[in-house]
Amino acid sequence: MRTSSTFSAVRTTCCGRRSNALRQPGCLPSTCRPSLGRFLHVLALACSARSILEIGTLGGYSTIWLARALPVDGRLLSLEVEPRHAAVARENLAHAGLGDRVEVRVGAALGVLKDLRDNGADPYDMVFIDADKPAYTEHLDAALQLSRPGTLIVADNVVRGGKVTLGAADDEAVVGIQRFNAALAADPRVTAAVIQQVGVKGHDGMAIAVVRATGPRKRGQDEALRR
Ligand code: DHB
Ligand code: MG
Repeated sequence: MRTSSTFSAVRTTCCGRRSNALRQPGCLPSTCRPSLGRFLHVLALACSARSILEIGTLGGYSTIWLARALPVDGRLLSLEVEPRHAAVARENLAHAGLGDRVEVRVGAALGVLKDLRDNGADPYDMVFIDADKPAYTEHLDAALQLSRPGTLIVADNVVRGGKVTLGAADDEAVVGIQRFNAALAADPRVTAAVIQQVGVKGHDGMAIAVVRATGPRKRGQDEALRR
């Protein structure tokens, strides 16, 4: 349960700007901790993202951090399965002055992702996966089909207090993340690393993956990597 002082901290630290974006009645608890919101913001800036796809909106907290890293003509599409969450997120985004840059689309993510691909959507510069954990591997696969070499794919909650390292688990979220981490590590289409993070929600972490160029690496690229 979030306290009003937590909301106050969120308001005053969101991208270093004062914002009432997350204060409305009916505000949903965020799945994303403040320091991690800022981390996402920095990642979006680091890859000069002009288009971002977010899988899992909830109340729009990480959406706001990501969208504030976009240029004014940048775009973010966020997918949310629960219409009530989407409504709250849209309100929060409007309060943050980001309504013009962000679309929150309601629907089951895998279906929406398939529609995007079938309709020839341009590849995204950055994808943030933060939806239901059992389907993370399928979300990764769909994200890769909406990517180009260099796209940054970030996935939240891949450490889960270290439970992902303890072998067979009962928790379907842990099992889903174990499957995701194994798939990510084995996938030749990406180079990935996991960072562990400790914040107000405890010990967790994010996977950060860069989509690789297809075909053999150029000589200069290999030399740059060895340096
Ligand atoms: C929780 C945190 C998350 O980042 C998430 O995506 C889902 C749930 C949690 O702390 O419950
Ligand atoms: Mg999360």
